[in-house]
Amino acid sequence: MQAAARSVAVYPGSFDPIHNGHLAVISRAIAIFPKIVVGILENTGKDALFSAAERVEMMRDIYREEPRVEVRSFTGLLVSFLRELDARVVLRGMRAVSDFEYEFQMALMNRRLHPDAETVFLTAEEEYTYLSSRLVKEVAALGGDVAGLVPDQVRTRLEQRYRRLTHPPTR
Ligand code: PNS
Repeated sequence: MQAAARSVAVYPGSFDPIHNGHLAVISRAIAIFPKIVVGILENTGKDALFSAAERVEMMRDIYREEPRVEVRSFTGLLVSFLRELDARVVLRGMRAVSDFEYEFQMALMNRRLHPDAETVFLTAEEEYTYLSSRLVKEVAALGGDVAGLVPDQVRTRLEQRYRRLTHPPTR
């Protein structure tokens, strides 16, 4: 593997929304790789709460003073995005055994599509092993406090979004 391709690790995901478990993976990755490109999947196929532009904006805001982290969105295959960046390392966080099967399948499919690509798994922080974007949204939608689980600006956005969804502006 060329040094340039090794030095960039792509951290792909839906990030709808970003939570502290994601940030912990990025912090750990920064200690290993010189550069991390966060790849935010535009069309998640799920009903996204935040648009790709909003997810990119939130992530860029969090890393505005961290030159080692670049935030981009992508569409289509992850391996095409890797090729576009001339990157070969895919970074994923692993929370629990329940993540394993899905992650294993993705890693093998990506390797089949791009034999030089390597997926590197980092274990989640113990305190966040139960954390997922889905649960964060569920708690926030029902009025629960997600402080300490997501960055402050994401918490504010969640509150605003759910307030708007439950009390749409009247004309
Ligand atoms: O945070 P998520 O939703 O678990 O991330 C999943 C993601 C974005 C990494 C995965 O769905 C993906 O890479 N999608 C791009 C389409 C693709 O390449 N599919 C084939 C590889 S399995």
